[in-house]
Amino acid sequence: MAEMIYSPGLEGVIAGETAVCTISGGLSYRGYSIDDLCENATFEEVAYLLLENTPPDSSQLKKFKADLAENYRLDPQLEELIRKLPSDIPMMDYMRTAVSLVAHFDREVGDDSPEASLRKATRLVAQLPILLAFYHRLRQGKEPLEPRAEDSYAKNLLRLLTGKEPTAAHIKAMDVSLILYAEHEFNASTFATRIVCSTLSDLHSAITAGVGTLKGPLHGGANERVMEVLSEVGSSENAPSWVSEALAQKRRIMGFGHRVYKEGDPRAKILKAYCVPLANETNNQEMETIADIIEQAVSSEKGLPPNLDWPSARLYYYMGLPIDIYTPLFVLSRVTGWSAHYLEQQANNRLIRPRSKYTGKEGLRWPAN
Ligand code: SDX
Repeated sequence: MAEMIYSPGLEGVIAGETAVCTISGGLSYRGYSIDDLCENATFEEVAYLLLENTPPDSSQLKKFKADLAENYRLDPQLEELIRKLPSDIPMMDYMRTAVSLVAHFDREVGDDSPEASLRKATRLVAQLPILLAFYHRLRQGKEPLEPRAEDSYAKNLLRLLTGKEPTAAHIKAMDVSLILYAEHEFNASTFATRIVCSTLSDLHSAITAGVGTLKGPLHGGANERVMEVLSEVGSSENAPSWVSEALAQKRRIMGFGHRVYKEGDPRAKILKAYCVPLANETNNQEMETIADIIEQAVSSEKGLPPNLDWPSARLYYYMGLPIDIYTPLFVLSRVTGWSAHYLEQQANNRLIRPRSKYTGKEGLRWPAN
């Protein structure tokens, strides 16, 4: 029997092996640093790398993109079901429902072989942005737009959500944010995905568990709450006192801190560089200044660096995206990492079942009747 380790929240516990990603010595996916990937790869290439464990050559990339485009069209019955949903569902609840609904229209549901799971994962990568944009347009009282097979993933996503042709700068910034959100080792939602896989359950169940886990504000949900921080602070002059008060009240300042990165989230540094030009383009320089002052105050008062959610929220705001879309964007990207971990767990599975430290009452007698 392995030696029992007790660590609340599994902090510091190595709970398994993975070849998908490491965050030790800098974040890398399948051996490629995120700096290299953000500069030289596209989200489609990174999705392929995560799922297939190798970068695509030109013909493989062409086929992958064609496979994605082939799955942009939703089943008419599924579209009808989505049209019948209430128009005010919280977006992360809708994403959780959408993953479950789309499973009923997947021809390979019930086939949990690695090959079928990989094909189902690829279909989900294609379908999730369509499902998100479809509902977002309906809730605005507009008809959903048609994706274009020839457009990149990021270009389609932005156009389907905003109804406008995105600029090259917005497309590149969105693409980089999707690469940075794609994968992150055994974070809570990925570990939830692996737990579901470890019982031999199916991919859609595992991804649904991932969506539900990511929704929480201590995890993916933080990027939406970062905008509340920025609007609560409101001005540069307010920032230092706001931070001191929030910390004094023991509030968690969204977008700061990380269970693993204690010296700073490398992803935040990369994405921040994309915030400045977009802030200038949309006349939001003041928001960048406020963000910088908050960052300095949290760092000097609490020693907490920003995580990826801190710049990503501003970036999406500058792109004109509604705040309750931010965490669903995280889902669109992280479905690649979740699926890669599902496939890896499936290939070398051991049921994930930790023990617990009992703190309840003992030795009680049930009253005789
Ligand atoms: C993501 O794990 C991943 O990889 C996740 C992720 C991914 O890509 O999958 O990187 C994505 O989820 C990023 C994190 C997004 N969440 C937030 O921004 C929410 C705010 N952050 C915190 O809630 C917190 O930092 C956590 C949950 C992210 C990590 O917290 P830990 O490791 O459990 O740290 P802790 O709660 O033990 O806190 C240690 C100290 C405490 O102070 P003391 O009681 O010792 O005085 O730091 C303080 C905490 O109060 N602290 C914060 C804080 N985060 C920690 N204080 C104020 N604001 C914060 N954000």
